[in-house]
Amino acid sequence: MPKVAVLTGGGDAPGLNAAIRAVIRCASVEGYEVLGVRRGWKGLLNREFQPLSLERVDELLYRGGTILGSSRTNPYKEPNGARTIRETLSSEKIDALVAIGGEDTLGVAAKLHAEGMPVVGIPKTIDNDLNATQFTIGFATAVDIVTEAIDRLRTTSESHDRIMIVEIMGRHAGWLATYAGLAGGADAVLVPEFPMKLEELIAIIQKCRARGKNYSVIAVAEGAEVIDDRGKRLSSASEQPVDAFGHVQLGGIGDLLKEILKKKTGFDTRATILGHTQRGGSPCAADRILATAYGVHAMQLVKKREFGKMPALVNGRIASVPLNEAVAQLKTLTPDVYQLAQVFFG
Ligand code: F6P
Repeated sequence: MPKVAVLTGGGDAPGLNAAIRAVIRCASVEGYEVLGVRRGWKGLLNREFQPLSLERVDELLYRGGTILGSSRTNPYKEPNGARTIRETLSSEKIDALVAIGGEDTLGVAAKLHAEGMPVVGIPKTIDNDLNATQFTIGFATAVDIVTEAIDRLRTTSESHDRIMIVEIMGRHAGWLATYAGLAGGADAVLVPEFPMKLEELIAIIQKCRARGKNYSVIAVAEGAEVIDDRGKRLSSASEQPVDAFGHVQLGGIGDLLKEILKKKTGFDTRATILGHTQRGGSPCAADRILATAYGVHAMQLVKKREFGKMPALVNGRIASVPLNEAVAQLKTLTPDVYQLAQVFFG
């Protein structure tokens, strides 16, 4: 019986289990045995496996997180990492590997494929910053979670005449902050791609007050930068250690802005960091469907032995794209989407 292995890597995202379910289901129809790999690339290096049988599929569609666990291990930073993976695939008689992840996990998948290994990808990240696809698994759910948070923060801000800063995940890309800012009616959205001047932000807040609105909700991506009066870029980037893929752990721009805005505007200001609530819990319907479609399509790629590819949403349809294209560059927020949000600033 041919064998397909599946792993999830990087930060978890709602919908991972729905994709795993689709892989198990299609694998069973096509006569494949399915082997789960625990904790992403780390588990493949350490040979941590978990058989996945058809009995498991019924519990997976709506379940958050990943039943396989995840890690941010980069095999290319481990001694003989790629060679160990090649040997493991061969000794475990794995005919194909489905790697579900974002730019880091799929970057490794692309390299392994370039070295001749039979790898297919599935795109996930709540940041939606993976190139070559319109949407990634987890993004739609995260937008819903942040939108609901903004709705809730709006009523309490209104009760207390406050500025409320909402710090949202998004290290290098402002997709989540902008989509949720649009859906939640944020008065300003700050993103890494389009740094805003502090004076502009203050003018937006004053414009709100001038038109009789006694509060403001400011959506801020964790990787956003604000330029102060002296041209200095304020951000939450710090000296913190980086992970195996070179990413710094961000967080803190909300509190930084809170102090500045309090001082500069005189308005009572609070900051809320949404943090990992944005990645937790059940996937929304759109993510369940996207993850299912990606999982089914990934197994079709496996069956056709079209390795080095991943399913992607292109012009509203599921297509196959090369992993190399997906990881060639980060998909940052496009000006048209940001301009849409800007219409409602102030
Ligand atoms: O890559 C997804 C993401 O959720 C980013 O938005 C965020 O900066 C990062 O992961 C947080 O990672 P961790 O869970 O390792 O703190």
